[in-house]
Amino acid sequence: MSSNAPSSDQDEIICDCSGTTRGKILQLIARGDDNLDRIESVTGANTGCGSCESEIIKILENPD
Ligand code: FES
Repeated sequence: MSSNAPSSDQDEIICDCSGTTRGKILQLIARGDDNLDRIESVTGANTGCGSCESEIIKILENPD
């Protein structure tokens, strides 16, 4: 039930390089951009140091 997730969780920065939050990634997944390529090109996440990739994949696999 992502709608009930605490806002602090949504505001968590997943990708420091691009400032991409968990909420932003969940928003993209919800509108159908549910793969790493799309998330990268829309947000710029995982296009810097790359250390956030596993975290993004985790959210993709389990968007709750
Ligand atoms: S933290 Fe995401 S590319 Fe560096």
